[in-house]
Amino acid sequence: MSHHHDDPICNDSSNEHFQNVLDRALVSPARRNVLRGSVGLSAAAALPMLQACGGDSDPTSSVPVETKGLSFSPVGKSLADQVVVPAGYTVRVVHATGDALDSSLAAYSGSGNESDDWARRVGDHHDGMDLFFIDASGKYSNADTGRALLAVNHESSADAHFFHPTGQTSGGVTAKKFDQFGSWDLKARPADGLEVRKEINHHGVSIVELSKSGSTWSYKKDSAYNRRITPNTVVNITGPAAHLANIKSLMVTAFDTSGATARGTLNNCGHGKTPWGTYLACEENWAVYFQMPVGSTAPDAKTVASRARYGVARAALSPTATSGVSQGWHTVSGSDQYSRWNVAVTGASSAADFRNEPNTFGYNLEIDPATPNSVPAKRVAMGRFAHEAAVYGVPVVGQPLAFYMGCDSRNEYIYKFVSTAVWSTADIGGGMAAGDKYLNEGKLYAAKFNADGTGTWLLLDISVPAIANFATYAFANQADVLVNTRLAADAVGATKMDRPEWGAVNASTGEIYFALTNNSAANRTPVTADGANPRSYNDPDGRRGSGNPNGHIIRFREQGSIPANAAAMAFNWDIFLFGAEDTSVADVNLSGLTASNAFSSPDGLYYSPASGIMWIQTDDGAFTDQTNCMLLAAVPGTVGDGKAITVNNSLNGATGKTGTFIGAALGDAKLRRFLVAPKGAEVTGLAETPDGKAMFVCIQHPGENTPALGSASSFAFESQWPGTAPGTQKYGPVGRPRSATLVITRDDGGMIGV
Ligand code: FEO
Ligand code: CA
Ligand code: CA
Repeated sequence: MSHHHDDPICNDSSNEHFQNVLDRALVSPARRNVLRGSVGLSAAAALPMLQACGGDSDPTSSVPVETKGLSFSPVGKSLADQVVVPAGYTVRVVHATGDALDSSLAAYSGSGNESDDWARRVGDHHDGMDLFFIDASGKYSNADTGRALLAVNHESSADAHFFHPTGQTSGGVTAKKFDQFGSWDLKARPADGLEVRKEINHHGVSIVELSKSGSTWSYKKDSAYNRRITPNTVVNITGPAAHLANIKSLMVTAFDTSGATARGTLNNCGHGKTPWGTYLACEENWAVYFQMPVGSTAPDAKTVASRARYGVARAALSPTATSGVSQGWHTVSGSDQYSRWNVAVTGASSAADFRNEPNTFGYNLEIDPATPNSVPAKRVAMGRFAHEAAVYGVPVVGQPLAFYMGCDSRNEYIYKFVSTAVWSTADIGGGMAAGDKYLNEGKLYAAKFNADGTGTWLLLDISVPAIANFATYAFANQADVLVNTRLAADAVGATKMDRPEWGAVNASTGEIYFALTNNSAANRTPVTADGANPRSYNDPDGRRGSGNPNGHIIRFREQGSIPANAAAMAFNWDIFLFGAEDTSVADVNLSGLTASNAFSSPDGLYYSPASGIMWIQTDDGAFTDQTNCMLLAAVPGTVGDGKAITVNNSLNGATGKTGTFIGAALGDAKLRRFLVAPKGAEVTGLAETPDGKAMFVCIQHPGENTPALGSASSFAFESQWPGTAPGTQKYGPVGRPRSATLVITRDDGGMIGV
């Protein structure tokens, strides 16, 4: 099955797991009253402030939207190798993996025969995405100018076997497929480096110019805006002025012995768009790219402890080891674009090798798409972890900005960054300088979810005694706190969550939603369910064992007057939805899902300011026997508006607990399946035009379960989408499956979904 839902666990701290908290919430009679009593503060109080703070080009000016009601007929479950949408909608591919940015390059072959290094092609594994409009002079605009730049994250290398004629080669043996979360052999990759260069360069971010023709959009080859940010692109290291020197000292490598710059970005999953119009490429599973050759020298114990918490070369390789995580990029000689992935001690100091290279990943990388020659910046002040999207709270003039961020691994945390600078609409279009203003100075917090339906933000600062005196890891200074954020969050007792994926902010209410995609049997045993969890159950067909195979979506509302509450230290929370198979028993299918809206493993989230829809994208392996991954439209309410749901936890033969909590059961009218993806794919990025009439959706890794070629003479493709797709979605040669960005329009020209 897909390895995208098997992220490694590196949190060995004793911090309380969210499920323990939720369980106590279930049995807390006070909780309902807490939630109910404060609901009235939400949207109404926000309206005047929202409307007071900007003109038409101001992202804060969006008038709160009441979702009109979903207007489409839900699509059924689908196992077809195509994108399925409701009647009356049209799907087209905007671009797909391997498309050339310049007409000087050969067209994508579909057979792995490209002879270039992919640094001027659209990357692979389309993920987070956003649109940036530019006016006739090329300046960023919040309004739809008919001319847009499309920025897309290219996440992973799990399907790199498709980029070579017969698969990946290692130790002279070809026809292999790297397993991102499994072990791979430690043998040398081909000496000429071309395989590895292709694999390196299909990572990162692509930016292409789009033009509008009629109702649809297409990408322009040879635009001066077309740009790739790859793992080789030089970027600036930035952070709080008072700590920047110490931050740079942690970034010293043979590439830049001052630590002022680093190279590139990796495994960009979810994303963020800033209120001033730049792009945040969030670095998620960057840890799996590094390795130390067998018999090499590890750095000092503190560095090793830091690496262990992030999953970098976790286990010291024994002299007889034959496998480890990483796909062996470091085995190619002749250039430090390869040797940089070897994180062993090979030189006299950190300035002479790449032992610090992992410290240069794990951040939000800010990019200004409208300024092609701008240097991207790692925003170290926002912390270092497996960044999975960064979404801002409703911006209010004169108030700090808040960015909400998940760390996607089992038992990891949700974070908030609050800027020191207060928001000014004069910064819209301000590019990297605006980023310097808002994203270098601020406070970083981790979330603690209390049993009574409240939560608190825990400051991550060296001045906090629990951090300064943390026994597990001796923080040297605030730079060390920012670079080892996970350990700092352990120290203050943040709440372990079930793999926080994307967040989304309901711009009408300021409430924040987070997808908690799933959890495994190892973390949610029947014994644990007996004590602490609202749902610990067997996947009905056993595909995903037990635990929380279907995931859920949490939402919270900052306390204080909304929306001027970016710096609030506390919040109220509830559960928006529980994923489930529609045929599951009621104790599992707590949100009352039906065949029209059953889903599993929520991953992406996007709130549409135009329609008021909360869009939910899935990346699943539990329900995929019945349906491919999907996109659903939900009508969001407000925290606390759900009904009381009683849970009987007497599952799996364990002694259960019974409790009551507030959660939504939206019903078919308020939650509908809008799109189903091709075979093996997950649904990732989502963006739309301001009028809500063109929606862009990314499809990642169709055919992901295609096995390595091995000794076979041809691939046993799980999918060959989009080359084999029907109708308007057919795109490119019939060959290997490709990730892609879609544009979806409504045939009558109306708004999507409502
Ligand atoms: Fe890249 Fe958390 O999924
Ligand atoms: Ca994801
Ligand atoms: Ca199942």
